[in-house]
Amino acid sequence: MKPRRTPPRPALQKVSDAAPEAIIEMRGVVKKFSNAAGEFTVLKGVNVQINRGEFVSIVGKSGSGKSTLLNMITGIDRPSEGQVIVNHNDIYTGVSESARSKWRGKNLGIVFQFFQLLPMLTLLENVMLPMDYVDMYDFDERPARAMELLKLVGLEKFANKLPILVSTGQQQLAAIARAMACDPPLLIADEPTGNLDTRSSDAIIALFEQFVSRGKTIVMVTHDPSLTSRTHRNIIISDGATIDEAISRSLPQLRHRHMLEFTKLAERKTYQPRETILSSDQKLEYFYIIRRGEVEVVLQARRNKETVLSRLGADEFFGEIELLRGGKSIANIRAGSEPVELTAIPRADFTRVMDESPITAETLSRIVQKRLEQHRMADPRTRK
Ligand SMILES: Nc1ncnc2c1ncn2[C@@H]1O[C@H](COP(=O)(O)OP(=O)(O)OP(=O)(O)O)[C@@H](O)[C@H]1O
Ligand SMILES: [Mg+2]
Repeated sequence: MKPRRTPPRPALQKVSDAAPEAIIEMRGVVKKFSNAAGEFTVLKGVNVQINRGEFVSIVGKSGSGKSTLLNMITGIDRPSEGQVIVNHNDIYTGVSESARSKWRGKNLGIVFQFFQLLPMLTLLENVMLPMDYVDMYDFDERPARAMELLKLVGLEKFANKLPILVSTGQQQLAAIARAMACDPPLLIADEPTGNLDTRSSDAIIALFEQFVSRGKTIVMVTHDPSLTSRTHRNIIISDGATIDEAISRSLPQLRHRHMLEFTKLAERKTYQPRETILSSDQKLEYFYIIRRGEVEVVLQARRNKETVLSRLGADEFFGEIELLRGGKSIANIRAGSEPVELTAIPRADFTRVMDESPITAETLSRIVQKRLEQHRMADPRTRK
């Protein structure tokens, strides 16, 4: 008699409380490694949500944990603590390595810095590999589909060549065609242009933009600032932790370690429509960054007449002029017509970091002066 087989474990667990629009959710992800010197923590409790259709870049100094973070999403490595939910599946809880590997083949395209094409196979055969592995598409359909993908990346003429006979840029394009072989919703790329010249990099990013416009989600680690400017969002990792994106967007010239300090120190504050945030003559205790909503900077003129000097929106900040000069608030600041959410950084921490970053402090002052001027010019309610 044949031995009875144990019932198969469910391949991957559906997670019902995941945000509906999220394609990736990392919750409290910690990753520790051990070496001869002992255990060290590379990811220190990372929380990240990436939504369907987003094009996201991840940057950070060498060794900050970028590749480790990607490996948590792809299931190439596993977290020491925390949860990773990709495409509504909890990819680590109760899942065997082989189930995860099959799931990965259908759900993720992965691209590395050094292409990793199989050298003994033609480009066409390389692109067909993932379809064979997860057994997707009819056997007879696979060559035609692989050719379509090579056409998409402009390599149909090279389909029957071995990787070594095409340029490095073309090898990476073939690797991307391979990553998209099973039409995954999500593409994960670790420094995909790190080994390429500017022209080839540009071709890769243009291709990524095309995928995103068709609804794919892309997460890409890169060191190249000219590429991060082309993504929807930029996540910075510093010392194994992600930086609050409101902080990195509003103060991009700060050093990563200062951004991280601010991230840890920041307090969240919410104000209701028209609620006063600061009154003039009040001593400032915080530097404020606007996360959501709009604030109005109001000048109280004589006989209760007020002038809205300017309006500031998401990723803009206020309080710096007073904090840097050590004075009191120059105007009343209140919430606009919607609730306002702020990140508040305590005064002492803000001034200390500014003392350590004179260039940032100077840039900040210049930005503010210019912005106030622009607001005055642009706002028909305040234009004379
Ligand atoms: N498998 C491993 N075993 C032990 N330590 C590891 C392992 N993988 C990564 N590390 C260590 O974890 C830290 C973060 O590595 P990671 O590769 O994630 O950095 P990175 O941000 O991708 O850097 P780079 O920009 O150089 O690619 C480094 O100190 C690295 O040496
Ligand atoms: Mg890396």
